[in-house]
Amino acid sequence: MSTKPAVFVTRKLPDAVTARLGKSYNAHLNPEDKLLSPADIIEGAGKMDADALLICPTDKMTPELLQALPKSIRAIATFSVGHEHINLDAAKARNIVVTNTPDVLTDATADITMLLLLGAARRASEGEKIVRTNSWNSWGTTYMLGVHVTGKRLGILGMGRIGQAVAKRARGFDMKIHYANRRRLPAEQEQGAVYHASADEMLGHCDFLSINCPASPETYHFLNAERIAKLPDGAIVVNTARGTIVDDAALIAALKSRKLSAAGLDVFENEPKINPGYRTLDNTFLLPHLGSATVDTRNGMGFKCLDNLDAFFANRPPPDRLV
Ligand code: DGY
Repeated sequence: MSTKPAVFVTRKLPDAVTARLGKSYNAHLNPEDKLLSPADIIEGAGKMDADALLICPTDKMTPELLQALPKSIRAIATFSVGHEHINLDAAKARNIVVTNTPDVLTDATADITMLLLLGAARRASEGEKIVRTNSWNSWGTTYMLGVHVTGKRLGILGMGRIGQAVAKRARGFDMKIHYANRRRLPAEQEQGAVYHASADEMLGHCDFLSINCPASPETYHFLNAERIAKLPDGAIVVNTARGTIVDDAALIAALKSRKLSAAGLDVFENEPKINPGYRTLDNTFLLPHLGSATVDTRNGMGFKCLDNLDAFFANRPPPDRLV
């Protein structure tokens, strides 16, 4: 009988992560990457007497599911920095340790924020379509004009690791950084950025707004019609955090009326079943939640899951313990 801890893995993992997992754990894998229901997870984890789960943001760890998990489960490692899909109170009540994967996806997510910002401002989605569909007729002095980026004001909602990495990149475009955050950063981290204790108050200063805060009951539908009205006319919104922070109906209405020039979105409420209104707008630049989708980053995230599980099973404090 194997003495390795048993880990039930809910989604397909990158090859390098699977290889390392196999060395230290008796793992049940999901190579077909089938989305598992709560019943599948309970049954699969129960069959192998799993000691831990390795999950993804697509697995909703509700209080009911956490309650119903086999008693053998003592740890859950999520392959994500975001953890709104896990009810941490219910995990704690069951004495289950939960870990996430901060830091390793900061750069990739900040990179894709700039891609969305530039793509939305410079009409990349429309331009690409024109070239691909052979509808490009000629260069023209007023053809496909977008919004200038260099030197503009960028408001960052949530100045944690990713927000700060976005600011660093945006400074390369001479953007003037404003930010709203629960706490003000020390001057050396702020690097001249203008702090707004109130996110509402910052909105009037945002030629561009980048959403980089976690999803929480407090940030649910933060960007609603009332707050969009506070943005300068023609502003651009970029979201690489979570779709639930945006009220889709309000954002779509503002894009239709051209109150906002454009939006660049990598995350959506109820993704992948996004509000269909986004698809028909020509002033949206849309990606399917690719923020952390580079080989290096996904390997880094998987290795972080394993570092946390390794520590847990060696009775050391997991470095990224949430509860
Ligand atoms: C996370 O880690 O929370 C990301 O959204 C996955 O890209």
